[in-house]
Amino acid sequence: MLFFLLLLLVGPSWTQAAAPAAVQLAHLRCELLTNPEGIDATAPRLSWELSSPARGLAQTAYQLLVASTPEKLAADEGDLWNSGKVGGGQSGLVAYGGAPLRSRTRCYWKVRTWTTQGESGWSAPARWSMGLLNYLDWKGRWIGLDHAFAWDKEESHARLSARYFRKEFTAAKVVTQATASIIGLGLYELYLNGQRVGDQVLAPGPTDYTQGVKYNTFDVTALLRPGANAVGAVLGNGRFYAMRQNYKPYKIKTFGYPKLLMQLDVTYADGSHEVIKTDETWHATADGPIRTNNEYDGEEYDATKEMPGWATAGFDAKSWLKTELVQEPGGAYEAQMNENMRVMETLKPVALKPLAGGKFILDMGQNMAGWLRLRATGRRGDKITLRFAETLQASGELYVANLRDARVTDVYTLRGGGRETWEPTFVFHGFRYVEISGYPGTPTLADFDGRVVYDDMATTGEFATSNATINQIYRNAYWGIRSNYKGMPIDCPQRNERQPWLGDRTTGAYGESFVFDNSRLYAKWLDDIAQAQKADGSIPDVAPAFWRYYGDNVTWPGTYLTIADMLYQQFGDAQPIAKHYGSMRRWLAYMRANYMTDNNIVTKDKYGDWCVPPESAKLIHSQDPARNTSGEVIATSTYYHMLTLMQRFATVLGKPADAQEYAALGAKIKDAFNQKFLNAQTAQYSNNTVTANLLPLAYGLTPDAERGKVFQNITQKILVENTGHISTGVIGTQWLMRGLTAEGRPDIAYKLATNRDYPSWGYMAANGATTIWELWNGNTADPAMNSQNHVMLLGDLLIWYYEDLAGIKAAAPGFSQLEMKPALIDGLTSVKASYKSVRGEIRSSWQREAKRFTWNITVPGNVKALVYLPAKDAKDVTEGGKKASDVAGVKFLRMEGDRAVFEIGSGEYAFVAKM
Ligand code: BGC
Repeated sequence: MLFFLLLLLVGPSWTQAAAPAAVQLAHLRCELLTNPEGIDATAPRLSWELSSPARGLAQTAYQLLVASTPEKLAADEGDLWNSGKVGGGQSGLVAYGGAPLRSRTRCYWKVRTWTTQGESGWSAPARWSMGLLNYLDWKGRWIGLDHAFAWDKEESHARLSARYFRKEFTAAKVVTQATASIIGLGLYELYLNGQRVGDQVLAPGPTDYTQGVKYNTFDVTALLRPGANAVGAVLGNGRFYAMRQNYKPYKIKTFGYPKLLMQLDVTYADGSHEVIKTDETWHATADGPIRTNNEYDGEEYDATKEMPGWATAGFDAKSWLKTELVQEPGGAYEAQMNENMRVMETLKPVALKPLAGGKFILDMGQNMAGWLRLRATGRRGDKITLRFAETLQASGELYVANLRDARVTDVYTLRGGGRETWEPTFVFHGFRYVEISGYPGTPTLADFDGRVVYDDMATTGEFATSNATINQIYRNAYWGIRSNYKGMPIDCPQRNERQPWLGDRTTGAYGESFVFDNSRLYAKWLDDIAQAQKADGSIPDVAPAFWRYYGDNVTWPGTYLTIADMLYQQFGDAQPIAKHYGSMRRWLAYMRANYMTDNNIVTKDKYGDWCVPPESAKLIHSQDPARNTSGEVIATSTYYHMLTLMQRFATVLGKPADAQEYAALGAKIKDAFNQKFLNAQTAQYSNNTVTANLLPLAYGLTPDAERGKVFQNITQKILVENTGHISTGVIGTQWLMRGLTAEGRPDIAYKLATNRDYPSWGYMAANGATTIWELWNGNTADPAMNSQNHVMLLGDLLIWYYEDLAGIKAAAPGFSQLEMKPALIDGLTSVKASYKSVRGEIRSSWQREAKRFTWNITVPGNVKALVYLPAKDAKDVTEGGKKASDVAGVKFLRMEGDRAVFEIGSGEYAFVAKM
């Protein structure tokens, strides 16, 4: 410790020679991907994290080297790019600025930094590879089998068997490098010499395939053999050939029969290059074991139809068909820059109960999304049937009414002759319970595993408090979010819907970003939204627009802007703003031209404050005008908020004229809004719902002089009329917890957060929920719209947990600065949280006793934090047992009300404050 203090005191010239080992560089990432194979960004962006055991580490300059071979990089030769020494603290998303990168180039890179504690020395090397950048880099033809077979059925509940493709080839020379690139639509599995390539499932990421298709790239060098080789691919339907193939074609978009484009780029030791590619020489069959696969209805697998060795060389494919050359899907070929799905956890079931008729009900103990893996021993041709549901009826039978007409049934036919293990390939289900019928013998718990499937993204946050209800709700939210990441954020994983509704994530995406590294998923989703925009500027409520829902409201499409803002604030990534700015501008102009009155009121709304607690337990939507908020209030205030975001975006992009234009329009809307909806006598907006008063407060529409009174109307409504309960739906709940806290009543927010009676998140938990419900009355309402696993009612709850309870809040984009100001609430005695930000892990753990506040904080390298300690005076605060203001690296700034504000840099701190 003393040594590092000395280093700090003596300064950079001396430390440069003595300290290099202390500063560590880790987590080198290209485009924030941990293992990037096949990137198509022409200027990929590079990031790293700095740390050191000493406090106050800040970067002052960096240098990047990018080389075409590991040897050149080791010799410090940046033949592709040498950035030179660049001054400043940027340690994330530095755009590559070297020689143009060509398709398939492998890039080896490293970084070194200059810091307040000396030079880091060079980092360990990292690598990325470029994808196929040009259309003509794809050498193959699209192949498929463009028709149904005798065993398929093309009706509303379509049944289409999986299609298998294979090709043998010879590696004539020694292979030094082999890369597989594949677009397998709707879903693929790829095999080389019988080995599965990668551990992704349900790949690639879903898109509107007429607009863009994602390709995946794999380094398969290790899978190739000298001599005879075989490549095999299986195609499932996914969203391409969907369940509703011949049903509501005006509403549901489908794309035709599955199709495949793939190639294997092989480099030999002598430097020559060969491409194995899809073409008319491949063979195909639809008569394999996957008899039908349908995301909503389930998968049927007949093990008696297995074709052992079909993806290895020498397999007898005489009965296979010649493949057909088919049309290309139409969209651009894009490298998939977001994670594929993977089996992320395997869960053991907790109970197995027999039912009449030889059936069993298996309980996973947790509502989840994925599938069941089973083991069984039986006779050839025995059939095991699995049906999935979220809850049970009183009788103990599955409750499937809320799944609508999704059949959610998997069937496995045994091959016989020993122990068999099976799990499906091209479906997922949202379930806690599984009905098992036809199982040979008596099943036991040990025969089943729950396979939890979602996007392969890291869990970045941990959060626990002294309150058990909050902890349970956090856990429910965690399971709800992971259930609904499916290459796009979907509304729910179980019923016949599973659509990427924009409005469900407007603010939720921001809260989720503390829990999961969702940056690439949401960047991809913005592209999906952009691709769904109509030529006139209209943005749909669902994107990719698998369902045709162009409602022209402000709240659902507005998610396009709030998520770009989230990516900037939470991950420091301004690229989505730059990329989508033009489309956002067109959308706002379109909405203004079509739905704004001459008096600057936006009249069009569609969903209102979706899903407020209704007046009767059976209802989905309230019919009571006193509970619902006017669509004009919601649309106009949200449009105003969109203009605020656009001003921020215009400023980030250096477009001051645009910022002014939006500010001027905003000022007009503000006047019009207050004139029309604010009652000068009562300071009530519109019909005085919490949402009607909260939105103008949160968006800054309310005149300063009225803010206090408007807020009082909110507290009156919650505490008196609603006896301390929530009354907001999807819209109001996005601002509720932060709004109450910012206006000085975190205690009311805490009351709402810890309630266990109706309506509340705690009520869900108290009634057996292990995820978050679609409706506050999710245990009693009409099953027509009553999912048990929807995340939209979380509103800003997770943001409140992390920012206001733990005190982990970005004060500058990408957490380069932190504001740590936990709310003090009677009854809440401790919070322990951590968040892996793009700059490194932040930790905050505090306990409160009668007059004492103990707070342990970790700030990552290259980050500064303002910490707000509850104390009457700075002298009442210690750090590491010493008066805080005397400790080197802890700087007292000022008193702010009941808080002493200190500035700290990176490192670990142990504060104690006398309150
Ligand atoms: C979905 C919601 C969605 C809503 C909008 C529902 O069916 O499940 O999550 O936002 O419709 O209409």
